Amino acid sequence: MRKGLTSYGDAGFSLFLRKAFIKAMGYSDDALDRPIVGITNTYSDFNPCHGNVPQLIEAVKRGAMLAGAMPMVFPTISIHESFAYPTSMFLRNLMAMDTEEMIRALPVDSVVLIGGCDKTTPAQVMGAVSADRPAIVLPVGPMLVGHFKGEVLGACTDCRRLWGEFRGGRLSAEDIEVANERLVPSVGTCGVMGTASTIACMMEALGLALPGSATIPATHADRVRIAEATGKRAAELTKGDLKPSDILTPDALRNAIVMMQAIGGSTNAVVHLSAIAGRTATPLDIEEFDEVGRRTPVLVDLKPSGEHYMEHFHYAGGVPRLMQELKDLLALDAKHVMGGTLGDAIRMFEDVPGQTVIKPRHAPLKEEGGIAVLRGNLAPRGAVIKQAAASAKLMQHEGRAVVFDSVEDMAKRIDDPALDVDEDDVLVLRNAGPIGAPGMPEAGYLPIPRKLAQKGVKDMVRISDARMSGTAFGTIVLHIAPESAAGGPLALVRNGDRIRLDVAGRSIDLLVDEAELAKRRAVWSPPSFPDAQRGYARLYREHVQQADQGCDFDFLRAK
Ligand code: FES
Repeated sequence: MRKGLTSYGDAGFSLFLRKAFIKAMGYSDDALDRPIVGITNTYSDFNPCHGNVPQLIEAVKRGAMLAGAMPMVFPTISIHESFAYPTSMFLRNLMAMDTEEMIRALPVDSVVLIGGCDKTTPAQVMGAVSADRPAIVLPVGPMLVGHFKGEVLGACTDCRRLWGEFRGGRLSAEDIEVANERLVPSVGTCGVMGTASTIACMMEALGLALPGSATIPATHADRVRIAEATGKRAAELTKGDLKPSDILTPDALRNAIVMMQAIGGSTNAVVHLSAIAGRTATPLDIEEFDEVGRRTPVLVDLKPSGEHYMEHFHYAGGVPRLMQELKDLLALDAKHVMGGTLGDAIRMFEDVPGQTVIKPRHAPLKEEGGIAVLRGNLAPRGAVIKQAAASAKLMQHEGRAVVFDSVEDMAKRIDDPALDVDEDDVLVLRNAGPIGAPGMPEAGYLPIPRKLAQKGVKDMVRISDARMSGTAFGTIVLHIAPESAAGGPLALVRNGDRIRLDVAGRSIDLLVDEAELAKRRAVWSPPSFPDAQRGYARLYREHVQQADQGCDFDFLRAK
């Protein structure tokens, strides 16, 4: 209770006043003299992914009290993917600032970060690293799978797949309505290897969350038990000095990249881990993702790269079992929030006979990691492609550009029967980056134009400065940096230009000579943002960084 006293010019009075107020809640001096475990409350009626947060909070409290500490809950912003205008990414840094400042402002000796829906855990960790008080992550856990006409379903890969079937006229209006009720059958985060699951697995690899905590379904009793164990460990953390900055070393960050690649993780994780690393003393270079990816196979057979769902990954032994296959690629002596090393933390694991979700090293799902980093005259500061979820026949491709100037332009024209497009073309979306949209929406998964979808075309090369949901799939180049709205070369592409993608060669190029590009550059003018003249929108526009730096605000990065 003595930490961070409100300033009245008299510390004794500040403490006296604080105690007088908090006693209104019925606390005894014994309770108030205990170390305090802060618990973030990200429950919201608008965030179904966090629907189990109240139950988890109770369990964390129980764990903290069993270990002799005093748990105290405080609210922060909660962000759900479908309830965040204009995008959840736009709000991630606001949640990071909220979390950081509340940890700093409140007299907590350690903090449990309960999050899960895509941007929440990255935001919480970004804030916690900057506040640098002992912290432990508790994911809310994945939702259960749904069932529809004998098929197993998981949000949101199957949301996209079924919507594509509906658009292509292969699923009726009645069926799509029924499917809508079956796709999300429980609380918890998306049940495929989307961003939430990717980040949760990376938290185990970073050493910030208890072993096994990424994959236990949100509705299972084990989820509640691991919440209790997390509370207990948070109480122990109050007695030591193990802070996020001690755990988030370059080795730990590389362990997280190994995990991201081995699970065929979400491209969004590149942005989030870059932002988290930017809060530490050792920022990541985007090339490290590619370098680690070249020697890390995809071992987990989960949608959208594979077949199964998060609960199946859990039944197969989860992250600790996967790490047994990756031991030679991991820095096992990296520090872990449990107190020892990552190697100590994963010593106990379950070997499930006959499981097929976690592949052995000698028979990987893909020889190389899920995500590759591309460069070229279209992406001088890099771009990413989820090669694990792309079409093999499009990995080397040259085609004619069909350009959309904005997300709105794309929505207006993509299904126009008069659109001049065929399946060998390259769909280009611009002004959808961190500044341009704003908030870098998950619009990079451009729909296949309806007239081509109806002919059975399922994939085309699509490129943009946008992001893509971790649950999506296709030959899709994302995060082109610098973005179009910042004057990147994407702004100069015109309909009919030739574009060449070479994933093996890690390149993405606009086949237009430099003299012509210089002419186009001379007449280009940046877009204006009349809606971003005040408040958070203005702060965001003036300070957000490009994708290769994690889209954090420049003033929030570590000095
Ligand atoms: Fe919350 Fe997918 S919408 S994790």
